[in-house]
Amino acid sequence: MLKIIAHRGYSGKYPENTLLAFQKAIEAGARYIEFDIQPTKDKEIAVIHDFTLERTTNASGNVCDVTLAELQKFSAGYPEKFSNNFQDEHVPSFQETLALCKNKAQLLIEIKREDKAIFYDDDLEEKAIRLLENYEMSEDIMFVSFNLPSLAKVKSMMPGMVIGCLFYQLDEYAIDRAIDIDASFIIFNYKTYKSPSIIDKAKLKGLQVGLYTVDDVKDFERFRYSVEAIATNYIKEITDYFFLPLANS
Ligand code: G3P
Ligand code: CA
Repeated sequence: MLKIIAHRGYSGKYPENTLLAFQKAIEAGARYIEFDIQPTKDKEIAVIHDFTLERTTNASGNVCDVTLAELQKFSAGYPEKFSNNFQDEHVPSFQETLALCKNKAQLLIEIKREDKAIFYDDDLEEKAIRLLENYEMSEDIMFVSFNLPSLAKVKSMMPGMVIGCLFYQLDEYAIDRAIDIDASFIIFNYKTYKSPSIIDKAKLKGLQVGLYTVDDVKDFERFRYSVEAIATNYIKEITDYFFLPLANS
């Protein structure tokens, strides 16, 4: 069955990558929630998309230059988009996110890296895997990333872990790279889609195909039978519109 993924939670209506956005996604019936992780100055794991704070918080600077405790003092209410409506929201830690979602949704954990190609030796993957084990949440997880060395590292530590390669565009190069690291999924920007043949090629090579980020019902209708997963910022609107089965139904 098609996996409909709440991208950064129910981020069309609530500040992305916040506990509120995850909670609202769960309430909307999301079975899959995507979020972004990156390391802080003190090597903790923060749930935030950008490497800088300006867009979604009321602070400025780099995520990697503040400790998790410092980061969590800022508002993650995305004031530019939501004014002061959600100013009490904070940047979640990885642990807070796991605690909230446990037994409620399967997770797509995106490892954010500034450079897509290089290997980072900061132990983010080890730490994330250890925390998943502590929370007994190693199942029902998919790690995704544009950074393939990071995914390869996850796979080497946990060969059974499902990994998904992110690419802006789906082409033969991307398919080969995904096969190289034993990925199960290849996920690309649907706006770069050109023809069904490349999706067929990926499937023939054993990959499942996903799309980000489809918010328009017409686009959703166009792709829903061609791929295995679609990420959307509007989980409630999309599931309501298409009457797709919700959690626990
Ligand atoms: O799940 C894929 C998608 O999240 C990748 O793009 O920029 O939204 O993290 P981005
Ligand atoms: Ca993401």
